[in-house]
Parts: sequence; C-alpha cells; structure tokens
Amino acid sequence: MCGIVGYVGPRSSVEVLLGGLRRLEYRGYDSAGVSLISNDGRLETRKRAGKLDRLVEAIAEHPLDVAHIGIGHTRWATHGAPTDGNAHPHLGGAEQKLSLIHNGIIENFSELKAELLAAGTRFASETDSEVAAHLVAAEYQKSGDLIAAFRSVVNRLHGAFTILVIHQDQPDLVLAARRNAPLVVGLGDGENFLGSDVAAFVEHTKRAISVGQDEIVILRADGVTIEDFAGNPSPHEEFTVDWDASAASKGGWPSFMAKEIADQPQSVGDTLMGRLDSTGAVVLDELAPISDVVANADRIIFVACGTAAYAAEVGKYAFEKWARIVVSVELSHEFRYRDPILTPNTLVVAVSQSGETMDTLMATRYAKEAGCQVLAICNTQGATLARESDAVLYTHAGPEVAVASTKAFTAQIAAMHLLALHMAGIRKALPEAAANQIGRELLKLPAKVTEVLASAGSMAELGKSFGDAKSVLFLGRNVGYPIALEGALKLKEIAYIHAEGFAAGELKHGPIALVEQGQPVIVIVPSPADSDSLHPKVISNIQEIRARGAKVIAIAEVGDGLVSQFAEHVFYVPQIQPMLASILNVIPLQIFAMALANAKGLDVDQPRNLAKSVTVE
Ligand code: M6R
Repeated sequence: MCGIVGYVGPRSSVEVLLGGLRRLEYRGYDSAGVSLISNDGRLETRKRAGKLDRLVEAIAEHPLDVAHIGIGHTRWATHGAPTDGNAHPHLGGAEQKLSLIHNGIIENFSELKAELLAAGTRFASETDSEVAAHLVAAEYQKSGDLIAAFRSVVNRLHGAFTILVIHQDQPDLVLAARRNAPLVVGLGDGENFLGSDVAAFVEHTKRAISVGQDEIVILRADGVTIEDFAGNPSPHEEFTVDWDASAASKGGWPSFMAKEIADQPQSVGDTLMGRLDSTGAVVLDELAPISDVVANADRIIFVACGTAAYAAEVGKYAFEKWARIVVSVELSHEFRYRDPILTPNTLVVAVSQSGETMDTLMATRYAKEAGCQVLAICNTQGATLARESDAVLYTHAGPEVAVASTKAFTAQIAAMHLLALHMAGIRKALPEAAANQIGRELLKLPAKVTEVLASAGSMAELGKSFGDAKSVLFLGRNVGYPIALEGALKLKEIAYIHAEGFAAGELKHGPIALVEQGQPVIVIVPSPADSDSLHPKVISNIQEIRARGAKVIAIAEVGDGLVSQFAEHVFYVPQIQPMLASILNVIPLQIFAMALANAKGLDVDQPRNLAKSVTVE
C-alpha cells in the first residue's frame, strides 16, 4: 500500500523524490521519508510520521545536501505504529551506510529478526522492513558485492515486497526487487526512475517498463538492467505512458476528489472513444487474445473489491439482460478460498482501477491456475493485473488520486456496458438494431454527465446541510441497488458516517426497523419508463419509510412527475436508457458525500486509515 520512488540522474534528487511522493501520497500517508547520497558521499535521511507536509517541514528545518541519487517512501503502516522511528527509510548495518524502503509484508521477518538479534544486531524500529536492511548490509560486508548481497537477501524473503536500496559506498546505484508488490521503471535521458506506479515520474518521462514478478532492477543514470532472482537477464518491452502529467495534479480544484468528479464527462467519453462506431456497434479489438472464450463462455465471474465490485454488480444486470449469460460477482478475497467451480468456459473478469489490489491479483492467479482465461478491466497501464491477464480492456479515466473512487467507477461501468453489448452481439442475444440503439445511447452519456454536474450545486448544498447526520441509508432496486451500495461506501469512506445501502425490496425484511423520525434515506428512483415497472414499487417503498418518519432524498429522472409528492428533496438526472442510468445516478451521491465531508472539515482525498491501493492481503 505504500508509495515508493527512486531516482538517479543529474536533477536534484530531493526535488524529484518529494515530487514523486506527492503524486504517490494517495497510496499511504501515515509517514514519509527520503534517503539520498550527497555529492560529497554521505548517506542522509529525513523521515517523519504524518503526511508528506511534515517531511517537507523537517527538510526545511534541516536541509539536505545536494544529491543526485535517492529513494523515498510514503507509508501505510502494517508492522509498527505510524511513528518517526517506524517511518521508512530504514538504515542497515552498524555503520548505517545502507538505506532501504519497502512496500509489502515480509512474512518470515520474525525468524530473520531472531537470527539478526542472535548476531548482535540492534534494531531501531518495530517494522518487518528493517530486517531486510540489516540483512543486505551484513551480506554486503561479507562479500563486498552489493548486487550479489541484495540478490541473496531477496531470495530469503517470503511474502510481498517491493524493496529499494542505496548504499553510501555505491553512490551511483539504486537496487530494487519486486515480488507481489508493484514496481515500474521510468526511463529518462541520462537519468532513470523507479516508482510504485507511473505517477511517480510521469512529469519527467513517459517511457516506462513494468517490472515482473521476482525481478531485480539495477538502476544507474546511464542504464537499467533487469534480472530474475537467480541473476539471469530478463528482457522487457518499454511502453509509453498515456497519462498527461497535469492529469495527476489538482489543476486549481480544492481537492483531487472534486477534480475527479468533474473529470467524468471526459473519463466516460475517453473510455467509450474508438470502441463504438457511428452506427452504435461495439468494436473491442483488445479482446482478440481471448476471442474463443468470449464466444463460448457459458458463465462470467467478476472478481473485484470495493467500488470495483459495485461496478461489476452494475455490469451484471447488463450482461444478464443483454447478453443472456450467467454472471456472478465475487469479492476477490472470498473467491479463491471458496473452492469456486471453474471450467474452461468460465470467463473471469478482474476489475481494478489500480491493477495492483492484492486480493484481485491473487484471485486472478487462482483462476488462471484453474485453467480459466482472465480479462482485466483496469485503469492503470503497466499494472500487474494488466500484465498477468490474458487480455485487458482499459478504462481511460486517467490517474485517480483521491482515495475514494469516482471517475474510475463510472469508467468501469462504461467498459462493462461495452463488453456486455459486445457479448450480446456474439451470442446473438440482442437483435443488432437494438444493440446498436443502446450503443448510440451510450455515446450520449458524456453530455448527460455534464448536465448532471451542471445542476449538482443543489446536491452539494444538501450534503452540507447533513453535516450532523449520524447515519444515512441508501435504497435502490435493480441497477439502482449497487448504486445505493456505492453511495453508502462513499459516505463511510470520506465522511466517517454510518451508511448502509439496501435493495429497496429487502426493506421490509429487516432494514426498515432502522427508520425513525428524521432518518435520512437517499433513494435511487428508476425511470417511470422502465418496462419492468420498478418505478411504482420504489414509490411504494418511499411511502413506507416516509410513514415512519424518514427524510427522503430522491434521485429521479427528469419528467418523473410523481416522486416530488413523496420526497423532501428530489435531484433530477437526464433521461437515458434505464440500464445506463447508473452512471448518472451515482454522481449526485459522490457530490453529496464530498460536500458532507467538506462540511465536517475532513480531508476528502486522504481519509483516515485508508490507502488507495490495497497491495497486501
Ligand atoms: O484499485 P482497485 O479498483 O482494485 O481498488 C479496489 C478498492 O480498494 C477500491 O475501489 C476502494 O473500495 C475505494 N477506496 C472505494 O472508493
């Protein structure tokens, strides 16, 4: 979950490292630190508990010397509390000439620590990571070969790790190793970079290499070598990062979340772009590597966590209705421990914004080992999930920095709709004209998202006025149900308010007992034009909760003449094909949660206890 950055080259390393950490801070913000080797050959380290700004202050108080090589870390604590002492980097050896940063968990750290303690090593932290620092320092002392020492130590570690090391005696060299945690190399001209993801260096270079499982990177200013853990060369292809550096900055918005919500016309549009022709027919060339299973699948299993799983739940309705295929949505961390039934005709679709969520990666590996083909729906180029899947349908949402997912969610839904229509065509489950008609409706989404955003001020005002709420309930039916779940998750995540999403039909089976005088309930109201006539059922549900004192906020379609009679507040979204309404319906919920959290004075981009990418199980 931590963010890692490394640099060697002509620039001021502290500036490169702090810039990279700023862009990676969403990965964890319990503490931050940097080490560098100054031009006169000294290893210098600064680290502080708390957000990156505390480290910046520490460096301002005790400036670092000029340096052109260094490593930096922003932490999401696993072993050891978020203190200055447990912050990375950790120094290794009695002379403290080696510095190490780590993302992941070293599972066998207790036995390694016991070995070091027996040899008289003194520890300065409670972390698992410090063990690796002392081990590399000790091996180096014996052999005098830093690369060999590093290789021998990473071979002894179990668990998940990206580790970066610099040593005062080797002032031109950064070493890195990767197992089950992300690592990307940025290739510059006379300079090179390392990062947990490309955001770490995208302002300096767009040329990148994604480092594979169990690989070591030997990084110098004039070249990069990648080998496996046995020391054999490992060939890699470069890719070009398609993110613009400015996309990863706030660009004048008060928060990344505000910017990312506002980005949605573009992110939905970019995800659809080039994948629908003018007739509305879907063109998904990226599915070519798995065309057999796409054509012959008898079942789809989505694996995902959090918001990505709710996007898959939205997708499920479309796949079943349009493509007439059996779909299940599995939380990745439950999936592989359930002994799921998988056949070669099961298409597994892994959905992940980051492509680095460990649970989803493990579910993907499990499915592949069971003989399934895996399609990734992923937002991050070069991510592990993209590399390990048989095909990738990228969402083109651009970098999502705020911990609470917004634009990635709507882009994932757009991608699901494309895929569902594509499969409907292959399976001849929908007449071509009907499928193309939906395709043309999809193309209208970006403009309709713009309309929703333009009128969202009222939802923000409402959010502000609920600053004292202790609990908010969300109700939806059909495709509105996962939107209710997502609305509740947003509120929990960033406003720290108890929130629950329910299928409206489930209300009388228990949840209605929660409703008392003044209980805020946000209801996603389906279109009155919906042929499944869910609209009257939801209106009845609203009446049931109103009768028990609920304060109802409805999200309804323009032209719904009935709902305002039963709700205190109605936020209207433009009309669209009912299945596609989820993208429009979730935006007011995002805005409500953000406004409420802002009213409480909370940091919406970096909510407590969370990190953007959950890279440990
Ligand atoms: O990167 P991923 O899409 O795999 O992340 C999955 C979840 O961790 C993520 O969606 C999380 O639930 C968000 N913080 C929700 O806003």
